Amino acid sequence: MDPVLILVNIIALVVVVIWSYIKNKYSYWKNRRVPYTKPSLPYGNLKGVGKGIHTREFFSDIYEKFKHQTPFVGTYFFTEPVAVVTNFELAQNILIRDSNTFQDRKEYYNENEEPLTAHMAYLGGEKWRQLHQKFEPLFKPNRMMQIMPTILEISDRLATILEPMAETGEPVEIMPVLGSFSMDIAGSIILGIKCNCLLDPNCEFQAKSERISVNPRQSELRRIFMQTYPKIARLFNMRTLFDDVSEYFIKVIPDEVKERGANSGQRGDLMDLMVQLKNTGKLDDSSEHFGNLTDDEVLAQAFLFFMTSVETISTTLGSGIYQLTMHEDIQEQLRSEILDVLSKTGGQVTYDAIMKMIYLHQFVDEILRLHSPANHLIRKAAQDYKVPGTEHVIEKGTTVFIPISAFHCDPDVFPDPLVFNPDNFSSTAVAGRHPCAYLPFGEGPRGCIGTQMGKLVVYAGLVKILRKYRVKFSDLTPLNLSYVNSIHGLRTTADYFPEFEKL
Ligand code: HEM
Repeated sequence: MDPVLILVNIIALVVVVIWSYIKNKYSYWKNRRVPYTKPSLPYGNLKGVGKGIHTREFFSDIYEKFKHQTPFVGTYFFTEPVAVVTNFELAQNILIRDSNTFQDRKEYYNENEEPLTAHMAYLGGEKWRQLHQKFEPLFKPNRMMQIMPTILEISDRLATILEPMAETGEPVEIMPVLGSFSMDIAGSIILGIKCNCLLDPNCEFQAKSERISVNPRQSELRRIFMQTYPKIARLFNMRTLFDDVSEYFIKVIPDEVKERGANSGQRGDLMDLMVQLKNTGKLDDSSEHFGNLTDDEVLAQAFLFFMTSVETISTTLGSGIYQLTMHEDIQEQLRSEILDVLSKTGGQVTYDAIMKMIYLHQFVDEILRLHSPANHLIRKAAQDYKVPGTEHVIEKGTTVFIPISAFHCDPDVFPDPLVFNPDNFSSTAVAGRHPCAYLPFGEGPRGCIGTQMGKLVVYAGLVKILRKYRVKFSDLTPLNLSYVNSIHGLRTTADYFPEFEKL
């Protein structure tokens, strides 16, 4: 046969095989009669995501379109079918009632090449269960009371750093300041290292930390690709972190562990507790044996806790300060509550005092509703799951997304969802809605382990600022906050400059 003809036949065959493969892939939801969004090559339904379209908008569009039609929608990430939940009841089943089936996330990690990524947020199965069991006690309320003095000391530093600008009335580029604040908090409380990014924002620690999420190695679309096709990503040795960032933390964390040696328990930070668990499998004040931690477990978890805290705390505080500039009346009500509670403690900010500030709690809940740092929750089906009340099955291995930012802005649940209103969290309002309509920290066994710590830091930062300053709108404050994709979801952009007036 003519060699050219052979070549043409081979090419035609390859094209037919690829075309049939893709056609078959893209028929997945249709064949199962699940409502779906029409995909196209090469991105499936992700066209534009990461290039102008934020995942927040992507999920919100799907949710708004389908929420009254179906409990979940079929979509495609590249050629992979994934399910998007559009119903609170199904979210509750997946996160809580049937969490055994949905215990894992589908996340990319590479234990051998990037040991920092093999942490409990990404691992699944027995590995996750064991780590969760060992680390959960670190975040109990009594531990939070232990770290409170450090949180308050660094919050004081935050309030002090604003003083010169308050005196001149100069608008403050606030996001970098809050970034330094959250790095000081996480560096001190979690890694236990002496850092002062607030005073020295050009320090190496801050420079390396910013390269984790402010300027990450991989774009949003690439991260979704790595998550969707972990085997291919591993084959090509795709990395989550810049090499110099990995090297830095792989040195700093073990150095700190080594320095504490057998003398943990002196400083009362989370690193102390991790070192205790590593050495003895127990915590000083408890007879319970949680299991010894390995060096690698301490390394990856300390890095995880650090990285998660930095971004969520600065974004939440940043959005909160923005809302204070936009709502003078809310700011006054908040300050009045803070001063009232503190008048009964002789001006002392304490854990108990903060716990009594109910309007402050509502304010922060509302920040986390409108500006949730996480867009969505992720779970993976460990076995076929028949969706209650439907004929549909979420098949084993399918990734499921729960679009929490979209839930938080559902007008059927939150009237005027784009209006900032802490009354959305009055006890009556909370009691009147579905428990899974609001999920800023996720839910169930895989819910956020650092919920209390995250909230405490945000409360403390706000209290320290509000008792000292009036936060004011400046000409450099935009009418709407803008966000960028980040390693966790969304991050407030830095082009926002409030003014601080000394009280
Ligand atoms: C305002 C602050 C924070 C917010 C909004 C937040 C939000 C979240 C969300 C939405 C998840 C996913 C939950 C799920 O899938 O159900 C999560 C998981 C997690 N968060 Fe947070 N977080 C915050 C602060 C923190 C802090 C301070 C720490 C640690 C010091 C932390 C550690 C973790 C860990 C380890 C996980 C994974 C848990 C697991 O897979 O078992 N978070 N967080």
